[in-house]
Amino acid sequence: MMHGPSGDTNPSEPLRFQIAGTGAVSLCSLAVNAPPRLLLIAVMAALAGCQLPASQTDAALTETGELVALSGGGGGAANACFTCHGIEGQGDGISVPRLAGLNAGYLQKQMEDYASDLRHHDVMSAIARRMDADSRRHVALYYASLPAPPASGMARPMPAIWTQGDAAREVPPCSTCHGMNGEGVGPGNPAVSGQPAAYTIDQLTRWKRAERRNDPRSVMTLAVAGLRPTEVSAIALWLETQSPAQAPETAAASASAAAEAAAESAASRGPRRPDR
Ligand code: HEC
Ligand code: HEC
Repeated sequence: MMHGPSGDTNPSEPLRFQIAGTGAVSLCSLAVNAPPRLLLIAVMAALAGCQLPASQTDAALTETGELVALSGGGGGAANACFTCHGIEGQGDGISVPRLAGLNAGYLQKQMEDYASDLRHHDVMSAIARRMDADSRRHVALYYASLPAPPASGMARPMPAIWTQGDAAREVPPCSTCHGMNGEGVGPGNPAVSGQPAAYTIDQLTRWKRAERRNDPRSVMTLAVAGLRPTEVSAIALWLETQSPAQAPETAAASASAAAEAAAESAASRGPRRPDR
């Protein structure tokens, strides 16, 4: 089956994910300070835009994401994220990954990649395509802001290939990019600890078959090429028992950076300047 027109990832793309600051944010103040139950009711009535003072903007960004998480946003109520990913973004422990506490930029990139089919999944691609870019960004900020769920079960022993790789088969040590315990490294290399084993096996297998092609510089495609199925399972079963890690770059930091960029762009009434 043919995928989107964008083809392989650009090798010059830097290996990190960023939440892009966009223009002025238009949000509804109703979302601020409302408890989740009220939000569920309010969702139906209210996504009309209204300007918020700057001090409320970071909270509002994640609150708008919460509306999407609870209502499905542009994806429609049948696709409300919480119905599959859990009310706390913890996942279902089987095939639906946890989202809570993952890096905001990583989450947003996944939504874009589902939408463009660089990462195709029948359910998630259909949902992501129906959402606009702002909703994808806000829902990413929201899930990043939730606390990572607690560890479940007894930790298994780490498979040696995780830290050693196998030079003969050109398997790199996974720990270089994902950390000793799968906690992730920096904003670009996601936490993989605490994800359900079946989900992880599925992802690694899809990379082997070039069905998931959204890894910058093909790092994952190369990493899994020489990996044996028994190693894929051993890694996945071990990762499942590792404590889910909170992204080092907190959502609050991402949200306030995005709010700052929005305020700056509104003040200058022009496109965002390229300087940092
Ligand atoms: C019908 C169930 C269902 C619904 C509803 C749903 N998801 Fe998913 N989601 C999944 C499954 C299953 C996967 C794993 C897909 C794969 O293998 O790529 C997934 C994967 C993801 C991932 C990738 C996570 C990672 O670690 O790479 C993100 C991000 C995500 N979903 C966000 C959302 C958001 C945001 C919404 C609501 C707008 C949503 N999902 C609604 C089932 C669902
Ligand atoms: C050079 C860095 C690098 C190495 C080495 C590496 N990875 Fe990754 N890995 C990444 C990046 C970057 C992503 C995210 C790609 C994307 O944007 O979806 C990723 C994603 C993943 C995911 C999917 C996470 C999710 O939530 O869907 C799994 C699982 C994973 N890696 C496991 C491994 C294993 C197992 C190894 C060792 C065999 C490994 N990685 C080696 C960089 C690396």
